[in-house]
Amino acid sequence: MSADAGMDRPYVIINAAMSVDGKISSISNDSRLSSQHDLARVHRLRSMVDAVMVGINTVLIDDPMLNVRYAVGSNPTRVVVDSHARIGLTSRIVSTCRSIPTIVAVSEQADHVRVERLRGMGVSVVIAGRDRVDLRMLLHRLSMMGIRRVLVEGGGELNWSLLKEALVDELIVTVVPIVLGGRAAKTLVEGEGFSGVDDARRLSLVGMERVDGTDEVVLHYRVQGSQS
Ligand SMILES: NC(=O)c1ccc[n+]([C@@H]2O[C@H](COP(=O)([O-])OP(=O)(O)OC[C@H]3O[C@@H](n4cnc5c(N)ncnc54)[C@H](OP(=O)(O)O)[C@@H]3O)[C@@H](O)[C@H]2O)c1
Repeated sequence: MSADAGMDRPYVIINAAMSVDGKISSISNDSRLSSQHDLARVHRLRSMVDAVMVGINTVLIDDPMLNVRYAVGSNPTRVVVDSHARIGLTSRIVSTCRSIPTIVAVSEQADHVRVERLRGMGVSVVIAGRDRVDLRMLLHRLSMMGIRRVLVEGGGELNWSLLKEALVDELIVTVVPIVLGGRAAKTLVEGEGFSGVDDARRLSLVGMERVDGTDEVVLHYRVQGSQS
């Protein structure tokens, strides 16, 4: 990882595992793609950042913990991007929010009663944006809270919004030697997409490595033109 970004927003890294055909989950929402070795790398990365961020669909589908289990190190703050406060009150993230700092970022449209319930359970709720979470505003707020490095762990919609708004500094993707297919299967980056190749977000390859004992390849890119 390179130097931290300035005061305006934290340094943002996207990490994901995808099939050779670019899917981050199968048509049945199975997203356990990469090996235990690769998971250990991700957990080491988690232990090196201040916060891990995911979109609400990832929480609703996977019910992740987003803590550090396969490496030695402390847990980062978990940040869920959830405009309407849909996160389950019995989800693993909410259930463990008293032991692992947890932020749910909502918009002004989120139900106030639900927001207060989450707060009562120990979740820090950050209101950023009118109808949808304003990611630039959220990142600025995280920076004000002392968060300097954020690891984004999907899914495709959140990845798209961050890349579109030039809010990403690094992209690390593990290419897993499988083909999943399925037009409904989620890809690394969803959203409406850039119109032409000239409009695409450009990346510079800064590293690649084979995951020990596997045919997985970790590609490490720096994102050009990010506004950090
Ligand atoms: N292989 C991997 O590495 C990996 C990693 C993570 C996830 N996944 C898979 O990815 C799938 C979920 O991905 P997904 O693309 O459906 O959803 P997602 O990115 O996890 O969540 C998207 C949701 O976040 C909320 N959101 C709020 N503000 C947003 C903003 N400004 N921009 C974008 N989203 C915003 C929106 O819901 P509201 O409007 O309700 O807030 C949106 O629908 C799951 O199947 C999961 O297993 C795979």
